[in-house]
Amino acid sequence: MWALWFPLLSAFKLYLLGFKVLLAQLLNTPLKLPVMPRQDGKVAIVTGGGRGIGYEVVRHLARLGAHVIIGGRDEQEGLAAIKRICEEYKEAKVEFGKLDLASLQSIRQFAESFKKRKLPLNILVNNAGLMLVPEGRTEDGFEQHFGVNYLGHFLLTWLLLDKLKDSGKAGHVSCVVNVSSSAHSIGEIRLNDLNSCQHYSAHAAYCQSKLAQVLFSSHLHQAMQREASPVVSYAVDPGMVDTALYQQLYTPLRVAQSLIARLLFRTPAEGAATVLSAALSPSLNGDAEGGYWANGRREMTTPPTFDPQLQLSLWEISLQLLGLQ
Ligand SMILES: NC(=O)c1ccc[n+]([C@@H]2O[C@H](COP(=O)([O-])OP(=O)(O)OC[C@H]3O[C@@H](n4cnc5c(N)ncnc54)[C@H](OP(=O)(O)O)[C@@H]3O)[C@@H](O)[C@H]2O)c1
Repeated sequence: MWALWFPLLSAFKLYLLGFKVLLAQLLNTPLKLPVMPRQDGKVAIVTGGGRGIGYEVVRHLARLGAHVIIGGRDEQEGLAAIKRICEEYKEAKVEFGKLDLASLQSIRQFAESFKKRKLPLNILVNNAGLMLVPEGRTEDGFEQHFGVNYLGHFLLTWLLLDKLKDSGKAGHVSCVVNVSSSAHSIGEIRLNDLNSCQHYSAHAAYCQSKLAQVLFSSHLHQAMQREASPVVSYAVDPGMVDTALYQQLYTPLRVAQSLIARLLFRTPAEGAATVLSAALSPSLNGDAEGGYWANGRREMTTPPTFDPQLQLSLWEISLQLLGLQ
């Protein structure tokens, strides 16, 4: 019986939250990004930067003079994005690197080839994501939302952490930005069933992966503070943004969404504004504070995200799942 109710209840909770977020968006004007400092000499990696919110993040960072690497699985999409940006800003320095977050081998190859180049790494934006995909597994057997949105980014960050530490210094810390979602607030971490084997609900799996990102971000930030490493970590909610993320909705909902989206959803550039305000906050404020950001500022979030035991348990299980020390 629960196997039937669980997906229905999870879907209802997510659509109700979506309705509330849209109401809030209707009442509030979108964030307008202030003029940000130049980023010449800085290097950034943006996963899933070929389209949607990630594309706008890449475009803005490139305009500010940063050297940006798009990590993505679709080379054609990545190269088309680079062409558009370079047509707009002749000086833009943007590259594409093959990265499939559904494959641990691909993540390791991407990190290795980046490290071989001896570039610094000042900004890592863990943006790529998928939502409401049918039940399926990554190359290494992880549930797709958990594997791509969370665990793949965990491994990528872990492999690049030394680079981030080496590239930061007091007053110019490096930063990791995890693009989460308000959906984290209704997520539940099932430590004994992270791969959703018992009951599958795409809605619950998405929310779990977004909560996992917030817990990871907070734990990473505190670990960096404790060892006085010059790295800060943020979790960010970009708001409800009109992108291809919604393509997996059931057809009637998809039609309704595309009609509502034009009126009430944020544009990808507006969604990218909060991601950018977190990513560039160290340049504005020196040693920045991390935390959970929405609407362009630091915000409070739900109690499970503060639970140090839950953060630690998830961190340790993630290390085990990835075969890391
Ligand atoms: N749109 C919203 O309303 C909203 C709200 C809250 C949070 N977010 C979050 O914002 C982030 C960006 O989403 P978006 O709205 O910009 O959606 P999008 O337009 O669908 O972009 C998602 C990006 O992730 C990439 N990606 C997916 N699976 C991947 C994989 N296995 N390996 C590498 N890249 C992969 C996609 O590349 P491919 O072309 O290869 O698929 C695409 O570039 C996501 O983390 C999402 O959860 C979005």
